[in-house]
Amino acid sequence: MNQVVKKNALVNVLVVGGGGREHALAWKLAQSNRVHKVFVAPGNGGTALDSRMENINITEPIELLAWAATNDIALTLVGPEQPLAAGVVDLFRSKGMRIFGPTAAAAQLESSKAFSKAFMRRHGIPTADYDTFTDPALAHAFVDRLGAPIVVKADGLAAGKGVVVAMDIAEAHAAIDFMLVDNTLGVAHNEGGARVIIEQFLIGEEASFIVMCDGKNVAVMATSQDHKRLLDGDLGPNTGGMGAYSPAPIVTPDVYNRAMREVIFPTIKGMAEDGIPFTGFLYAGLMIETEGENKGQIKTLEFNCRMGDPETQPIMMRLKTDFFEVLWAATEPGANGQVGGRLDKIELEWDRRTALGVVFAAEGYPMSPRKGDVITGLPSKDSTVGDDALVFHAGTAAKDGQTLTSGGRVLCVTALAESVKSAQQRAYEVAQDIGFAGMQYRKDIGHKAIKS
Ligand code: AMP
Ligand code: GLY
Repeated sequence: MNQVVKKNALVNVLVVGGGGREHALAWKLAQSNRVHKVFVAPGNGGTALDSRMENINITEPIELLAWAATNDIALTLVGPEQPLAAGVVDLFRSKGMRIFGPTAAAAQLESSKAFSKAFMRRHGIPTADYDTFTDPALAHAFVDRLGAPIVVKADGLAAGKGVVVAMDIAEAHAAIDFMLVDNTLGVAHNEGGARVIIEQFLIGEEASFIVMCDGKNVAVMATSQDHKRLLDGDLGPNTGGMGAYSPAPIVTPDVYNRAMREVIFPTIKGMAEDGIPFTGFLYAGLMIETEGENKGQIKTLEFNCRMGDPETQPIMMRLKTDFFEVLWAATEPGANGQVGGRLDKIELEWDRRTALGVVFAAEGYPMSPRKGDVITGLPSKDSTVGDDALVFHAGTAAKDGQTLTSGGRVLCVTALAESVKSAQQRAYEVAQDIGFAGMQYRKDIGHKAIKS
């Protein structure tokens, strides 16, 4: 099948996923005057309420393809990493359907830490020194030799739980055992079984550096910073992200140039040279040195092959360019089944204000979030509050006229304002009306960017 879409005709699009990131992507796509309807699979309580969107209860890639092919979908955008690692892009492309994301082979930059570390070493991309192990005895001996602090990472996808930053060696030994021996995390093992990366502990400040790629050209997304820890002051367990803001002042013009020159361009070039051109969002988690003689130096902590959640929510709020047109240019088919892409023709325009999003999580998150609590005080229909705030849904479900919690991260209240401080104030002000039993949230989102 080959998709023919008349120039400037209204089209339907499909967003795969059901988190806060996908609500924000669908919200932005729905504003395009090229888009008729945004289908979201499976979507959430927020996308269910918005008349421009419709939820489709499908998650399996093969079923998504069959549904998209028979429902006049002009373009598909994939939010989360699991369907990408499972080959949803390969499947859609094999039928001539437009889809934005990396192939399963390219998604290994995220789905296999052993792949991405070896890739970075091979192409001279700055990252922490490391070694890879399948034998627990050798891994334990390595930790004994290097000492703590040290970082132990499971090779496969682990829903953000596969990294232990061990401050003493007992913690590192325990991590090796539960990753290599017991697999209590439920890591999706890659070929060859359980594997860990043990790497040098890095100090500095983290930033999320996200770009769109069409295989050879790059369009850079606005900079952002996430808050990984559950509690105020960056304490408590690691989470998927408790809040984010854009732009991130830590990414100075110098850091930006280094990130492009040392990380992004060599990665796009390296993937193409290795015969697996990267298409989709490339998210480099960067550690930036903030002190001493190496101030401003960057190292790549990890690659993700998708947008960040919750970084997407503030980033989409700042994007002024028609997002459908951007994705359409990025997915232009090339000759003879090669990737095409016209991202070189795209100029992304950003609102110069700051957007800041605060995540509201369920009781028990991140270990065992409770579901089924009634959420009160939500804005009706399209999730907007005035013209400067939005309540993006994540783990929510619409039931009998109510919205219930249905996952760990429940909502992300996002506001746009002149400064980080005023965006923070506005987000917390909007959130005052919203509540559910056991709600957890941080009260200091944006603190690193607010000068006291
Ligand atoms: P990753 O999934 O590799 O980004 O790791 C999750 C989090 O663990 C990162 O966001 C960092 O906060 C932390 N982390 C990962 N690798 C290192 C490292 N080499 N040194 C210090 N912290 C790290
Ligand atoms: N917020 C971090 C991530 O999306 O991986």
